[in-house]
Amino acid sequence: MLKINFYPMCGIVAYVGHREAYPVILKGLKRLEYRGYDSAGIALNGDGIQVYKKQGKVARLEESLSDTSLTSTIGIGHTRWATHGEPSDRNAHPHLSSSGRLAMIHNGIIENYASLKQELENKGYQFKSDTDTEVLLNFIEDILACNECSLEEAVRVALKRVVGAYVIVLLDEEDPSTLIAARKGSPLVIGIGEKEHFLASDASPIIEYTKEVVYVNDYELAIIKDNELILKNLGNEIITPYVQKLDLELAAIEKGGYDHFMLKEIHEQPKTIFDCLRGRLDMVNHEIIMSGVQQYMEELKNANRIIIIACGTSWHAGLVAEYIIEELCRIPVEVEYASEFRYRNPIINKGDVIFAISQSGETADTLVAIERAKEQGAIIFGILNVVGSSIARISHAGAYTHAGPEIGVASTKAFTAQLVVLAMMALKIAKEKNTITQDRFVHLMEELNAVPDKVAKILSAADEVKAVALKHAAASSFLFLGRGYNFPVALEGALKLKEISYIHAEGYPAAEMKHGPIALVDENLPVLFVATKDAYHEKVISNMQEINARKGKLIAVVTEGDKSVASLTGDLIYVPEADEVIAPILNVIPLQLLSYYIGVGRGLDVDRPRNLAKSVTVE
Ligand code: AGP
Repeated sequence: MLKINFYPMCGIVAYVGHREAYPVILKGLKRLEYRGYDSAGIALNGDGIQVYKKQGKVARLEESLSDTSLTSTIGIGHTRWATHGEPSDRNAHPHLSSSGRLAMIHNGIIENYASLKQELENKGYQFKSDTDTEVLLNFIEDILACNECSLEEAVRVALKRVVGAYVIVLLDEEDPSTLIAARKGSPLVIGIGEKEHFLASDASPIIEYTKEVVYVNDYELAIIKDNELILKNLGNEIITPYVQKLDLELAAIEKGGYDHFMLKEIHEQPKTIFDCLRGRLDMVNHEIIMSGVQQYMEELKNANRIIIIACGTSWHAGLVAEYIIEELCRIPVEVEYASEFRYRNPIINKGDVIFAISQSGETADTLVAIERAKEQGAIIFGILNVVGSSIARISHAGAYTHAGPEIGVASTKAFTAQLVVLAMMALKIAKEKNTITQDRFVHLMEELNAVPDKVAKILSAADEVKAVALKHAAASSFLFLGRGYNFPVALEGALKLKEISYIHAEGYPAAEMKHGPIALVDENLPVLFVATKDAYHEKVISNMQEINARKGKLIAVVTEGDKSVASLTGDLIYVPEADEVIAPILNVIPLQLLSYYIGVGRGLDVDRPRNLAKSVTVE
């Protein structure tokens, strides 16, 4: 059985060197807030260890420290997504050991923390928090006290007893120039600068200081002492660090003049879609070049069934793919929520192929679901954004979406890139299978090629969407409707709105309206139709008239120049004409803008919506 480690989000940063540690750590924590923002804390080492922590976002911690002089050049910081223990000052990291000698941050879950805690309680230890972290820290301290060994040895001994996942970083009051870190399951990157070292959950806090990094592997210990990094395994053997050059620019992880990452990422879409198409659409020879797909073409062509596994927005991309693949490739498709699939003993037959769709490549449910399918012999294709992510590592093949780092918690550019990749995969398979005519194949390639410009055109009218958004920002509920290819777009519009604005929203197939949701319609309910020209257009127009007749507040995304919508009363948002197979990529853009402007209009933190985190690495 494949062993998969997954871990709760949380962001960790640590610094040791010649700069003041506090500003480096604080900035790093802000970059990692996408991993959780239930609380934030920093510990500095100098004249003893000082710990500062606050429930809430990093900005609250910063505010509370605005009058404090913090000059130490070594420290650790943490931004938390709560698992063990409610979000509170008390449960915030860093934690201090019982004696106050050690401070520690932790990203992960110590699964056997209850038995370790019991052991320690029997010895008289008392705990100030409800966290598994404090248990591990005191366990380390206990070993240190009993064995009279070095901290490094105590950490090694303790970690041999630990079941679970962790990245930990420790400060030691008795050795104020040393950082000790260890990893299993959770990510840890070390940036190597000129007489300074940076530790973080990902490279974003490091990138502006150095591009030389070492990715620490599972069961490795990093000791940073006297400006030197020493890597060891848990057996105390020295490992030569593999120093890599970061392929990431600072601009990619900054807001670049936009108020929010979400808005920046929405506006990046002409470029990200272009990047996703680049090198893959050969418009001269009319070919689609995707090596991962080509490598498994026999299995794909002959697949009895494609099972798409994903969560959230990625699941919506899977639903669009179901329509595209069934129509173009004539292969039956099932789209599964990873969280359901993994627990229900699914039937995988010979000839079934799995597509795993995930922006982060770290979603725990998706990871475990594909592990189950892989155990049963299925071929796994990853449609992923993050290169080298856990899902990438266990997939047989796949295609990256090349959307670049997506920081806003609400997924936008990753979704459109997923749709582009899935459309290209479907076209390529259909051509090999001969289930598409050459004319239609070329037409759809041209349609795909035109998407970046069409998206740019939609974005140039963002102010019109903003006006519609502000008009409806006070609504307490929304209905999103669409048919065929536009049904998953309606679901995605509803999800975006819920996440960003906390307005209740439902997505429904437009024709299902008459089977129930129409009862909700009154003069207060905004009903948004994704109603661009397609095979069902006339029927959707009738549905819209039904809303007009019941005085619902109609909003519709419609095709430029569509005269059939002229008789409707409501807010119309125009998008360029596109083939229905490709239209979802365009139609979702106004919905992203709508939820963004509604969220901002309601004064909400759209980049960090409450209770959410970017990568859901817990069950
Ligand atoms: C989308 O806006 C969400 N925040 C969420 O639904 C997300 O799509 C889901 O958690 C899946 O994430 P993944 O694509 O990284 O696997």
